[in-house]
Amino acid sequence: MLEIKGLKVRYGANEVVRGVDLAIKKGECVGLVGESGCGKTTVGLATTKLIDARKGGITSGRIFFEDRDVLGLDAEDLRKIRGRRISYVFQEPSSSLNPVFTVHEQLREALPEKDRAEKAISRILADVGLEKIVGKKQVYPHELSGGMQQRVMIAMAVAPEPDLLILDEPTTALDVSVQKQILELIAELKEKMRLSILFISHDLRIVFSMADRIEVMYAGRIVESGLKKDIVSEPRHPYTKGLINSIPSMKNRKKKFEAIEGKAPLFSDLPQGCKFHPRCGFRIEKCMEKEPALENVSDSHFARCVRAKELL
Ligand SMILES: Nc1ncnc2c1ncn2[C@@H]1O[C@H](COP(=O)(O)OP(=O)(O)OP(=O)(O)O)[C@@H](O)[C@H]1O
Ligand code: SF4
Ligand SMILES: [Mg+2]
Repeated sequence: MLEIKGLKVRYGANEVVRGVDLAIKKGECVGLVGESGCGKTTVGLATTKLIDARKGGITSGRIFFEDRDVLGLDAEDLRKIRGRRISYVFQEPSSSLNPVFTVHEQLREALPEKDRAEKAISRILADVGLEKIVGKKQVYPHELSGGMQQRVMIAMAVAPEPDLLILDEPTTALDVSVQKQILELIAELKEKMRLSILFISHDLRIVFSMADRIEVMYAGRIVESGLKKDIVSEPRHPYTKGLINSIPSMKNRKKKFEAIEGKAPLFSDLPQGCKFHPRCGFRIEKCMEKEPALENVSDSHFARCVRAKELL
């Protein structure tokens, strides 16, 4: 239903998305994971051409949504897709909820015009577990907890019954118990509404709990891609292995976990060859020569590493 090919995005002098391919099928949840600043949000925004034109733009690539060429659409057609067929829960919560309007008013706005009856609003509130807290009352966003506000944002995103939901760090600002409830809600809605989801997070543990397929991003490119089982049981890129090792073990809490050493490179100063080589414990001479291609390790599994086939 969504297919992104060779996407490149530039902000100022920096190319921050450097050729990304990504596809999402009907009813599938694809997780996009990687450290802060690697370009995840930018990919999500580019999907409906939401890159701030004063700061940057898409420089090449194709994006197909249900076989329509998104980058070729005019403003009018884009509006019909954005927030309707493809909807977002943005990373910046403040950009989504308006403090001066009640939850009801904002939900009504989010519904398609033909469907703004009180009944539709009640149904959506029930879908996201807010019927008791909000109900028919005039509640303002600031009267709700962070978790409840996130439920409202999810309600607004699913109200128009989109085909694709893009969730950008939907639980990052929440504490662990609330996080779990929100993830359960998302999983429920996915089944009930047969949603396709792009789930963006820096937290691989959360992505493991949600995604059918996982795309690991580093310095503006996908470095590993596969079904969840591929990534969980056979990670082939040293960066993915590092991310997995930095998850505190759920079985053995005493086991010391290791963060990946060093920092991600700046886009203004990317290293030669493999962009991960300054931090990689498996580096060999060849890694510094040219950036490896994303190659098959199995039918469903790809890695951008010259040593992917020997690293099990
Ligand atoms: N509006 C903008 N103007 C200029 N540079 C930007 C803008 N938005 C993002 N960038 C830069 O683009 C790069 C990718 O940013 P992006 O927000 O996509 O990363 P991210 O993976 O979502 O990170 P995070 O986990 O912190 O949300 C970063 O280097 C960031 O500084
Ligand atoms: S290509 Fe080399 S430096 Fe890059 S991840 Fe693979 S082994 Fe490490
Ligand atoms: Mg982001």
